[in-house]
Amino acid sequence: MEVEGSSSGARPAGLWTHLQRLVTRPGPLAHPEFTPSPEILDLLRDTVRVLVVGAGGLGCELLKDLALMGFGMIDVIDMDTIDVSNLNRQFLFRQQDVGRPKAVVAAEFIHGRVPGCTVTPHYCKIQDYDDLFYRQFHVVVCGLDSILARRWINGMLVSLLRYEEDGSLDQSSMIPLVDGGTEGFKGNARVILPGMSACIECMLDLYPPQRNFPLCTIAHTPRLPEHCVEYARLLLWPKENPWGDGAAIDGDDPAHVGWILERAQERAAEYGIAGVDYRLTQGVVKRIIPAVASTNAVVAAACATEVFKLVTSCAAPMNNYMVFNDEDGIYTYTYEHERNLQLSSGQELAVADVSTPNTVIFTLELTDA
Ligand SMILES: Nc1ncnc2c1ncn2[C@@H]1O[C@H](COP(=O)(O)OP(=O)(O)OP(=O)(O)O)[C@@H](O)[C@H]1O
Ligand SMILES: [Mg+2]
Ligand SMILES: [Zn+2]
Repeated sequence: MEVEGSSSGARPAGLWTHLQRLVTRPGPLAHPEFTPSPEILDLLRDTVRVLVVGAGGLGCELLKDLALMGFGMIDVIDMDTIDVSNLNRQFLFRQQDVGRPKAVVAAEFIHGRVPGCTVTPHYCKIQDYDDLFYRQFHVVVCGLDSILARRWINGMLVSLLRYEEDGSLDQSSMIPLVDGGTEGFKGNARVILPGMSACIECMLDLYPPQRNFPLCTIAHTPRLPEHCVEYARLLLWPKENPWGDGAAIDGDDPAHVGWILERAQERAAEYGIAGVDYRLTQGVVKRIIPAVASTNAVVAAACATEVFKLVTSCAAPMNNYMVFNDEDGIYTYTYEHERNLQLSSGQELAVADVSTPNTVIFTLELTDA
């Protein structure tokens, strides 16, 4: 591949043609203050600092997307090590990486693949760092699998906000949060301008409750293989107590899952229900919703695009919540989720003096964060 030199290392030349077009031409969707310039790409490479939270299914996609979009200074934080079950979709990892920290391996992979892009890994929990760490970044983008962790990072960014004496928000203290989430064939992407638009706390009601089956169905009228597994798990296990001492079910212990499987198969035979096997049993016991690589790819691409828009102003950011579903055909819908100004203090620390997020287009302050 043809390579051109640059201050922070050589970069493949052809890669940037399309990005150049985006940042060197005006357009109807651009921020009113957007000044087209080829130097914007230098800014992405040398100045803008992006934090990627999570290096799992979404995180791998995000790192690849951002590195190939010209971001040159990326940090990634993840507390986990690589499991063999990650390899089918977390494509920055290989068999020989199993057991190593995801953040470290992901950074190594990007370094090897995208010259000139520096990825700094952090193998720890987001909660291990304080405000000084998070203040360094211009944008934070999340590919997490936990509501708790999302709430924590959201709270951290809200706590960094500063206000003027007249109560208005000091915009230079605001670090935008782009959040992606997926579950099977469903996903969402959102852009949060802390203190200005709806944040994670404002949207908590959107999380669906865990899917459970009615107990009467499980006990009396099973119709699905899942009902049989739930019968063994919820009713037989506590009664027969097969491992003694009220031992809890360990969904990763093949003996435990095997015990439930056998009982579930007996139940299924009694009611003429097909389809109870080990995989299904473990899936129900561990509440596994299989991760779908294509959903991750779409949601991460939407998030990376939003990061690009936020820092370049070449287009207005999404306002502010996109749902995506490719379970049956492809469906997307974007709407503006409103702030919940009734939140108790501490949930959202203060209320910014902003009429509506519609009228506000964020401009990134690139001087000091
Ligand atoms: N508090 C946290 N601090 C740092 N990283 C976190 C935190 N909470 C979750 N993560 C990381 O977010 C990532 C989420 O990615 P994902 O769920 O795709 O990976 P996984 O849990 O290994 O895969 P799967 O859930 O499909 O088995 C994980 O790698 C996990 O370590
Ligand atoms: Mg997970
Ligand atoms: Zn909020």
